[in-house]
Amino acid sequence: MTRMPRIATVFGATGFIGRQIVGALARTGAQVRVASRVPESAFFLKTCGAPGQIVPIACDGGPESVGQAIEGAEWIVNAIGILFEKKHATFDRIHAELPGMIAQECARKGVMRMVHLSALGVDRSQSRYAQTKLAGENAIRAVFPAATILRPGVVFGPDDNFFNQFAAMARVAPALPLIGGGKTRFQPVFVGDVAQAVCNALIWPPVPPHDPRGKIYELGGPDVLTFRDILNRIAIWTGRRRPLVSVPWGFARFQAAILEHLPTPPLTRDQVELLRTDNIVTQGALTLADLGVNPTAMDCIVPAYLERYRDGGPFGAQDAA
Ligand SMILES: NC(=O)c1ccc[n+]([C@@H]2O[C@H](COP(=O)([O-])OP(=O)(O)OC[C@H]3O[C@@H](n4cnc5c(N)ncnc54)[C@H](OP(=O)(O)O)[C@@H]3O)[C@@H](O)[C@H]2O)c1
Repeated sequence: MTRMPRIATVFGATGFIGRQIVGALARTGAQVRVASRVPESAFFLKTCGAPGQIVPIACDGGPESVGQAIEGAEWIVNAIGILFEKKHATFDRIHAELPGMIAQECARKGVMRMVHLSALGVDRSQSRYAQTKLAGENAIRAVFPAATILRPGVVFGPDDNFFNQFAAMARVAPALPLIGGGKTRFQPVFVGDVAQAVCNALIWPPVPPHDPRGKIYELGGPDVLTFRDILNRIAIWTGRRRPLVSVPWGFARFQAAILEHLPTPPLTRDQVELLRTDNIVTQGALTLADLGVNPTAMDCIVPAYLERYRDGGPFGAQDAA
């Protein structure tokens, strides 16, 4: 007798990390439901699987619609998150209440596995982003203790928000800002590794000591770099060397207070606060390796997609060689 394919529901699937998760889940043979506020915006994900394998559905974030998205699914992934608040999308609502409610529905519907994407350093930073992410983790664990929580560091990949933003800035700005002197340390992790970690946390059999249920994993790559190191590497990869100007914390906050009034702010005061704390994997934490993933180095991935910021684009790289 052939078994019906497993059903996985992904919240936040249209995002940078969510898309990769959909692709990785599709490769397991699961049918993937993509729960989105605007299902049409998820149609592009259909090409991640066989015809009919990826199913975009509408989800307005209310309990009824979340329950419908979960109905009959064995695996649930929550990859919803925001970097700055809007009128109807506050950190409290998106990072704390919504994950708690998704977990509640998972418990009610008898879901087997849930994986939630949190963020590295949420237990250390005083930023609202981090504090509400931590509140979200706690809300989930209170109602669905078997949920697996993944805390990635800064995530890199062709559509990322971090390396692309600074590479784009280097194209037009005469200098790049070293916020707080650029001493904060990061441990960037590849988006493909995060997606594989999500998959493994869902499909691994619950056999101790590798039972991922109820555990928290901190996901970082093999490189630990300061903010200054990262900007220097971006300069090398894009061929655009710019002076690095130290911006004291107070002045960064002042700039952010102005910039955060833009519709899509490049920097907010909360992000400045987030930058104050090192963003690296804690000693002794469970990591990618505990989920069977060998972390990919930045050097293998980032230079290829930053080539487009070179003078002359990808062809400029050949000139430079
Ligand atoms: N990117 C990183 O470097 C990084 C690092 C650490 C942790 N994380 C965490 O990983 C998760 C995914 O990050 P990402 O970079 O993929 O984010 P992203 O590209 O901004 O995508 C976020 C997703 O959240 C959904 N979303 C946004 N606002 C929403 C709202 N008001 N109501 C319901 N859904 C909403 C969107 O889905 P629809 O528009 O389709 O509804 C979108 O697909 C987040 O929880 C983030 O905090 C990311």
